[in-house]
Amino acid sequence: MEFDKIINRKGTGCTKYDGMAECYGREDLMPMWIADMDFEVCSEIYDALRARLDHKIYGYHVPPASYWQSIIDWCGHRHNFHFTREEVTYIPGIVRGIGYAINFFTQKGDKILIQPPVYHPFRQVIEGNERVVVKNHLIDNGTTMVMDLDKLEEIIRTERPKMMILCNPHNPGGIIWDRETLAKVADICYDNHVLVISDEIHGDLELFGNRYTPFATVSEKAAKISIVFGAPSKTFNIPGLVSSWCVIKNPEIRESFFNWLTVNQWNEPTLFLTVATEAAYTKGEAWLGRALAYIEDNIRFAEDFIAKNLPEIRVMRPQASFLLWLDCTNTHLKGKKLCELFINHAHLALNDGEMFGDGGECHMRFNVGCPRKTLEEALQHLVDAFDEEGIHKKQK
Ligand SMILES: Cc1ncc(COP(=O)(O)O)c(C=O)c1O
Repeated sequence: MEFDKIINRKGTGCTKYDGMAECYGREDLMPMWIADMDFEVCSEIYDALRARLDHKIYGYHVPPASYWQSIIDWCGHRHNFHFTREEVTYIPGIVRGIGYAINFFTQKGDKILIQPPVYHPFRQVIEGNERVVVKNHLIDNGTTMVMDLDKLEEIIRTERPKMMILCNPHNPGGIIWDRETLAKVADICYDNHVLVISDEIHGDLELFGNRYTPFATVSEKAAKISIVFGAPSKTFNIPGLVSSWCVIKNPEIRESFFNWLTVNQWNEPTLFLTVATEAAYTKGEAWLGRALAYIEDNIRFAEDFIAKNLPEIRVMRPQASFLLWLDCTNTHLKGKKLCELFINHAHLALNDGEMFGDGGECHMRFNVGCPRKTLEEALQHLVDAFDEEGIHKKQK
């Protein structure tokens, strides 16, 4: 099986392995953290890159019309998300895109709303740009996390944020927001003049029959107030190529922002990413289907294994993406102690849930975008650590 292949990534300059020592203080851990997969790209991407590489001249680049069209066609055909060439531009990374939007549309001291626990750079990019974070906490109902829409409305009315950063699907948890929820968010934000940045990087990675809804498609109001960011990066495992894009339907928001990106040349796609993006979107769909099926099997495997061998851990089944959100409350370990168990006893590098903010305490984020054998080994490490540290006993 193509996804069973174990590939040594050490020394390739990849964050997952080569950035481990900086983050965890040691480099002998199994890396189940940062959100890329341990799978080779599909042969269609590789062949296209190889063919361009073999040309041996890598001069100044103008992306072909077919590159833009591949983004438009992919979103239209897979997600019913329709936009024109002028409504889309390139962005050199989604976090950078969010940073640009914050700088362009808000002032220092302005409030920006996020819904923790959430992808930690949202908070960092707001605070780093001297804006103020306003939070609407997600509610964990025991199965998934849901938005508190009444609270959202109340906070928006009282705190008056200028912007909201939506994670759609939501990381951590892999939650696909339904159309009704998104439409309500759009109504609240529209009525209160809040611009919505929708980060949809995990949108293609739909699992178990769930379908993601691009925010801008839920209503006219949503289309008017939204800036949508997406990418083939997670979908096709090419984040190192930096291949994101941005769609804005409303010309009143779009024109000035896109002009600003253009004069600064921040929206100029570079050579190899355009080749990879076009190959992915035009020829990679069959591979994606196989990758998602493999990820679903990995999730089922992890769920069964954990239920049998690590009953202290509650797994939130993701509706999208390859990241498991593990509730470790019943280990009765918190903060540093919980991290120590995973790092120093289980020899695993996972993302500490606390980094995602409120609601992330006693949680760990576990990347299962890896060969089954790697996953089995990592889970066994955890069982051994639980045995050694008497975690099971504490339960009894
Ligand atoms: C929700 C979310 N947004 C953005 C990113 C990173 O995107 P980029 O590398 O394009 O900044 C990630 C990566 O894990 C993510 O989970």
